[in-house]
Amino acid sequence: MRGIIAVLLGLRVAGVSCRSFGTPHHREFFYTSGQYISETSGDSISRGQVYVEHLIPAFNLTTEPEPLIFIHGGGQTGTNWLNKPDGNPGWSSYFLEKGYEVYIIDQAFRGRSPWTPVNSSDTLTAYGARYAASRYTAPEKFNLWPQAKLHTRWPGNGTKGDSIFDTYYKSLAPNAYLDDPATQQLAVQAGVAELIDQIGRPVTVVGHSQGGIMVWLAADARPNLVKRIVALEPSGPPFIDQVFSQEAARPYGLTDAPLTYDPPIQANTSAESQFRLVTTGSTDPSIGNCTLQDPQEPRQLANLKDIPTLVLQTQASYHAVYDWCTVEFLRQAGVSVDYLNLTHVGIYGNAHLFFLEENSDQIAGVVREWIEK
Ligand SMILES: *[C@@H]1O[C@H](CO)[C@@H](O)[C@H](O)[C@H]1NC(C)=O
Ligand SMILES: *[C@@H]1O[C@H](CO)[C@@H](O)[C@H](O)[C@H]1NC(C)=O
Ligand SMILES: *[C@@H]1O[C@H](CO)[C@@H](O)[C@H](O)[C@H]1NC(C)=O
Ligand SMILES: *[C@@H]1O[C@H](CO)[C@@H](O)[C@H](O)[C@H]1NC(C)=O
Ligand SMILES: *[C@@H]1O[C@H](CO)[C@@H](O)[C@H](O)[C@H]1NC(C)=O
Ligand SMILES: *[C@@H]1O[C@H](CO)[C@@H](O)[C@H](O)[C@H]1NC(C)=O
Repeated sequence: MRGIIAVLLGLRVAGVSCRSFGTPHHREFFYTSGQYISETSGDSISRGQVYVEHLIPAFNLTTEPEPLIFIHGGGQTGTNWLNKPDGNPGWSSYFLEKGYEVYIIDQAFRGRSPWTPVNSSDTLTAYGARYAASRYTAPEKFNLWPQAKLHTRWPGNGTKGDSIFDTYYKSLAPNAYLDDPATQQLAVQAGVAELIDQIGRPVTVVGHSQGGIMVWLAADARPNLVKRIVALEPSGPPFIDQVFSQEAARPYGLTDAPLTYDPPIQANTSAESQFRLVTTGSTDPSIGNCTLQDPQEPRQLANLKDIPTLVLQTQASYHAVYDWCTVEFLRQAGVSVDYLNLTHVGIYGNAHLFFLEENSDQIAGVVREWIEK
């Protein structure tokens, strides 16, 4: 017994004691969706399944409000929502402490939702450390967009060699299907829809960045069970990329995979050609160009219209250039959106990975207030 205590004390001296392990909870994991495909050997493998981590508060479980489903962004996995790279508790701890049941997925073909290449053209693409630093953790050192210089909230210097950055960077997982995003999106949509069916009661879906694409698709698939949508700097803006390229993207406006519009988009011809689009040009790189529907009878997002939606944007992210345009598009399409520019509630200096930054709990609090209002 003394030995055990000494070992425990030893661990504390070694630095464990300064860490917080977050909110006590129970945990299970399981998979949804996926299908077997045949291999030439005659055996079969499963593709497209979605890893789900289900956390339940050990104390203080409330039945209201609804469970949260967290969907991480490109190159990331569900670890985004667990503890932060600086060792402090992350958003799952925050919401567990407030009594929420939390579901965290790894997107299909990413992380613990494994992907086995079948065709020779099947490739995985990892974000490099400089790419991650320039866009996420140290944009103020690269200044790739005007608001980048306002970033102050990442702990540590945000580049290679800094232990917090290194811990974050090692958590990244390569992306599959970058050349065919609709296939990947449909797999995630199927997995999240099956998860929502299993939960069997209303949920709030929370998506970040490329995971923001998935919240529209999840709500479109299960409009009666998605009670609220929280889109944290969701991929955008509609139809044409900004900041890093001016290429066509997201032919359904918000997504590459089909969304239900009224009047409907026909599957037999390209989606973007069926919208009447108007681009507002801008010479100001802090605002960017914005492509919306012609305001005369814009198509409506039939399944999303009645779901209260929050779009949250930080001060210093590249999303500060264009999330306003995504919000305009949603409003034209009949969606009731609250647009939260964090500076308007006195929160400054954050960039795209704000839920891993110093003031992450403060921002979680703003989201929780919106959910509970
Ligand atoms: C219980 O939940 C409430 C919010 O619903 C929170 O303020 C409180 O700190 C929680 N208590 C414990 C012991 O976790
Ligand atoms: C492999 O490639 C072929 C030809 O492009 C395609 O028909 C098939 O669906 C692909 N298989 C998988 C599992 O993606
Ligand atoms: C960041 O910190 C690491 C570790 O101290 C150091 O090696 C690196 O040079 C620093 N980078 C910058 C850009 O300050
Ligand atoms: C696509 O389908 C619609 C409805 O079935 C039809 O009216 C239209 O002519 C078709 N367009 C093309 C390009 O085949
Ligand atoms: C708007 O689009 C045009 C044409 O693609 C491009 O030249 C211009 O740089 C864009 N403006 C901004 C602010 O990105
Ligand atoms: C967000 O709010 C700040 C402060 O009011 C403002 O300068 C900025 O233009 C706003 N961003 C957008 C995209 O509206």
